[in-house]
Amino acid sequence: MAKITHKAAAERVALLKRELEVHNRNYYVLNAPTISDFEYDLLMQELQGLEAMFPDLATPDSPTQHVGSDLESPAESSEGSRSEGSWSEAGDASQGKPSETSRSTEFQQVAHRYPMMSLGNTYSLEELYEFNDRIAKAIATDIHLPGSANDGDNAAATQAAGQTPRYTFSCELKFDGTAICLTYRNGKLLHALTRGDGTKGDDVTRNVVNIPAIPKELTRSAGGPEIPEEFEIRGEIYMPFADFERLNAERTERGEIPFANPRNAAAGSLKLQTPEEMAKRGLDCVLYHFITDNNPFKTHIEAIEAAHSWGLPVSEYSRKANSIGEAMEYIKEWDTRRKQLPFATDGIVIKVNELDLQRQLGFTAKSPRWATAYKFKPESALTPLLSIDYQVGRTGAITPVANLEPVPLSGTIVKRASLHNKDQMDLLDIHIGDWVYVEKGGEIIPKITAVERSKRPESARKPHFPEVCPDCGTPLVRDLEQARHYCPNSDNCPEQIKGRFIHFVSRKAMDILAGEATIEQLYDNGFIRELPDLYTLTPLQLMSLEGWQRKSVDNFLDSLEKSKSVPFERVLYALGIRHIGETTAKGVAAHFGSMEALMGASREDLLQVPDIGGIMADAVLEWCANEKHRKMVETLRAIGLQFEIDESSRQKLSDSLEGCTVVVSGNFSISREEMKRLIAAHGGKCTGSVSGSTTYLLAGEKAGPEKLRKAEKLGIKVISEEDFRHLTEGSEAPKDLFSEI
Ligand code: IVH
Repeated sequence: MAKITHKAAAERVALLKRELEVHNRNYYVLNAPTISDFEYDLLMQELQGLEAMFPDLATPDSPTQHVGSDLESPAESSEGSRSEGSWSEAGDASQGKPSETSRSTEFQQVAHRYPMMSLGNTYSLEELYEFNDRIAKAIATDIHLPGSANDGDNAAATQAAGQTPRYTFSCELKFDGTAICLTYRNGKLLHALTRGDGTKGDDVTRNVVNIPAIPKELTRSAGGPEIPEEFEIRGEIYMPFADFERLNAERTERGEIPFANPRNAAAGSLKLQTPEEMAKRGLDCVLYHFITDNNPFKTHIEAIEAAHSWGLPVSEYSRKANSIGEAMEYIKEWDTRRKQLPFATDGIVIKVNELDLQRQLGFTAKSPRWATAYKFKPESALTPLLSIDYQVGRTGAITPVANLEPVPLSGTIVKRASLHNKDQMDLLDIHIGDWVYVEKGGEIIPKITAVERSKRPESARKPHFPEVCPDCGTPLVRDLEQARHYCPNSDNCPEQIKGRFIHFVSRKAMDILAGEATIEQLYDNGFIRELPDLYTLTPLQLMSLEGWQRKSVDNFLDSLEKSKSVPFERVLYALGIRHIGETTAKGVAAHFGSMEALMGASREDLLQVPDIGGIMADAVLEWCANEKHRKMVETLRAIGLQFEIDESSRQKLSDSLEGCTVVVSGNFSISREEMKRLIAAHGGKCTGSVSGSTTYLLAGEKAGPEKLRKAEKLGIKVISEEDFRHLTEGSEAPKDLFSEI
């Protein structure tokens, strides 16, 4: 580190402390980090370096001395309910978190029996060797650690070739989720606590019991290790990518802001106040740290294997290493293999395996000396920002999107990246012409994480966030809660109108043979303004358009005709009511049975529908109260669209899969969607990931190897398409039931 005066260091330390506390809160409480883990770790390292250089600046309240807390202060809880649907990633993160309808602070706080620490981490292999040297030296000198562990000669040679290693390592994946501490007493789950501030955590037991992977009761296998009367086991609750994508797709459909990554989604879900909603989130769990008084085991690996034998979920990817060299091999292997995993990892954890050594090595203020994490650097690319587009969505929300000099990143060429909103642009102090860092991480679209100031060209200029709609010129309004700008001209703004058509014709809605280009063409030629206009298009009109031939006209008109039998729930979704996505539309349609009943519903009636919250109810009420919308529904009804539920569509084929939970993986003779419907029609339930509660893994061609491995490990029956047909034999689906898929 370059020379720095005490005064300058003190100022920088104060700033870093403030910054890190803000980021701790964004990450742990709001589940809406505004910087990447890598950037956070760099700030922490800088603070640690300065505190080492000027020990008088290292105060006990420093973020280097305590773990970040996930406990909310009472003041924050009210913000939590205020910021429904918002997400700004801005400096004031309280406005910017992806909110949860029923998230609040109503969890009881319970003291941890043993403090819940964090882990030291590094991005450098060099430092891992140093970690090993410290351990080797401590052992060689009979372990006298605090303060002086790192001085003296390099002890890497302690494990001379041929000698039995005096210590071994457990190499494990670093699961990117949210930490959990489970206590079992007399074989039964007593409670589940979050990390909290390390000394006390939120009691989330009522949510955790809905995570299928976590057993409520343990069983001792014949001849297996005894279950201690009381013990704690800690681990990570995480959301597999498939469930994360599903959840975000649903959120996007509802007009809510998606979670930035699976970690945030898992942490947010775990703190939901509605266990039923949480149960649908597909959370999984892995446990990696066993603690009890009078621990009967000699090594960490032994303890984890025992936990597994009692039915607890542990990682199948851990491995024992006899030397730091073997641990390095593990890291090398998993740096690549982790990309094929169905869940997020952000590094590798290396732990001294021998529990007596762990005890002797002990802890620093924040983390154990016997373990450390090697973290993978997020893949990022540096590229010039060429321009910014301001896109108008179908709901009128304005999203700034960066156009970049194309750059390769994690296997794809990135040309565009989200800038999210004006607050985010201001925070980055972004200029057109800047070189910017783009990251993909777990996110759906790449995002700009930082600006490389040193490369800012003279010609760089600050972008001007539009004051009027870039499409129709209407002055924008700022929705403070959503930290977004909106075009309020929903009736006449061309982009919004086109957006509504694009949504209406989409596959999951009316499935009409038209893409964005067709909608643009029909709109630009003045043929469509209101949704019913689609149904009055004539062959002559269509033939007059460039690129249309008899065949394409016939196909298009044919798909319009077919759309008249699209079931009510999809018609409801197609109408594009704000916050009403595909799943909610299904629930609303099933509950009310007809558009007429829905239009006559009160707020209270709407709130009776499972999963409908206040914001959704208000959106439906507002939509239905609009005279234009009511007329449009009448016209569409007269055209022949379905505004009532078709009771026969709820037809069940059999009960052969009643009570069964099926995971579908690979390719079949029918589409996966069709397969899932078939399972539902036979009374089964589909979930995304294999867990203890899975009945069958239905494996087609190229089924996921991880799923197959997990099923084998948990003893879950793997069935082929043929087996499936046998299981449901005699109750085959009538052909037309699935014909529209
Ligand atoms: S061991 C005393 N093992 O990463 C600390 N932690 O960034 C014991 N994590 O706090 C933790 N995978 O929440 C351990 N295989 C693993 C892990 C793991 C993920 C989390 C854990 C920890 C955090 C540190």
